[in-house]
Amino acid sequence: MTTKSSGLAGVVAGTTSVCTVGKEGVGLTYRGYTIEDLAANATFEEVAYLLIHDSLPNRSELEHFKQMLKAKREIPEKLRSILKLIPKHTHPMDVLRTGCSALGVFEPENEENNQYDIAARLLATFPGMLMFWYQFHFNNKEIDTHTDHDSIAGHFLHMLTGQAPDELHERALDVSLILYAEHEFNASTFAARVTAATLADFYSAVTSAIGTLRGPLHGGANEAAMALISMFSSPEEAEAGIKQMLADKALIMGFGHRVYKHSDPRSPIIKKWAKKLARTEQDQRLVAIAEIIEKIMWDEKKLFPNLDFYSALAYHFSGVPTDMFTPVFVMSRISGWAAHIMEQRANNKLIRPTAEYIGVETQTFIPLDERN
Ligand code: COA
Repeated sequence: MTTKSSGLAGVVAGTTSVCTVGKEGVGLTYRGYTIEDLAANATFEEVAYLLIHDSLPNRSELEHFKQMLKAKREIPEKLRSILKLIPKHTHPMDVLRTGCSALGVFEPENEENNQYDIAARLLATFPGMLMFWYQFHFNNKEIDTHTDHDSIAGHFLHMLTGQAPDELHERALDVSLILYAEHEFNASTFAARVTAATLADFYSAVTSAIGTLRGPLHGGANEAAMALISMFSSPEEAEAGIKQMLADKALIMGFGHRVYKHSDPRSPIIKKWAKKLARTEQDQRLVAIAEIIEKIMWDEKKLFPNLDFYSALAYHFSGVPTDMFTPVFVMSRISGWAAHIMEQRANNKLIRPTAEYIGVETQTFIPLDERN
């Protein structure tokens, strides 16, 4: 039997024990734990461990995992040289895509460097790769990619600002990393699994995933949502502007979802954090603009904000530059990608669907000299 579906919508393309998305009665779970419980009670490092090792760590396992990640933060000299060569105005997602691929050249996957080592290495080095490139090109500094912070959130913010981060910003980013860590067969994870299913190496699968995450219909939506919210200077202006955009059939970034039909369970969690982080009058104005956009989208289209919409404000209020929003998503989603690459490899089958042909009928071949 063959099933046709545009964009594979509604197609069950495999099995997984990593995550449920929108499952009746439980919603979003990672390895059986609800996203609400994880965001309220866990740290990102616990969640990354859970995804990669299939169970929550006990205290000593978590301590060991965090120390191991800290010890792996060094960026090799040859990779630093490549990062220096990447032009200043490159999109930071291209920096991580290139950085991931280059690390795969210098530290290839083999018996001494297995998939668990590489997953940990990428978790540990993505923040440093991005910040080394950024500080070199924008502030003329070659930074040390070691900091004292145990958390990836604190480590990233410290390298970004050169100072120990505000606790509220660190925890907000930590929660956002938990929310972004995993989401079943989304486009980038599926791309990673397609690559892994050909028996390609771990870095190739992650590089495919980063390229796939970059687009505004997927991870790039958080950057596009910030650009949208920033277009308006008041809720009144936003109301008129969004109504006009809807009349023009424009896509409103940060709204809608392929699987969720009524709400995204991650959105209220990050919205609460965004509101907590809004300290200035200007911040409050951005929140009011976002809330009016949310209301109009629901009233007019019955569309709800996905994780990307209020994440944009949470990152903005934490001082993260807009074009680093999607790279922060990479720093988190590497944990989910790793879990899926490992799961794919453990029970592999080449992923190769078929297409319905809609081209011309069979034609008679015309020799080159006879074509006009
Ligand atoms: N703004 C305006 N209209 C939207 C919309 C949005 N963000 N999302 C969906 N719609 C509309 C579509 O235009 C379509 O209308 P139509 O039936 O009149 O043509 C209808 O809702 C169904 O959308 P469709 O594009 O078929 O859904 P999909 O499952 O293919 O797409 C997304 C899902 C996420 C790609 C889509 O909602 C989108 O582009 N959202 C904006 C980008 C974004 O936030 N991405 C991050 C996802 S986590």
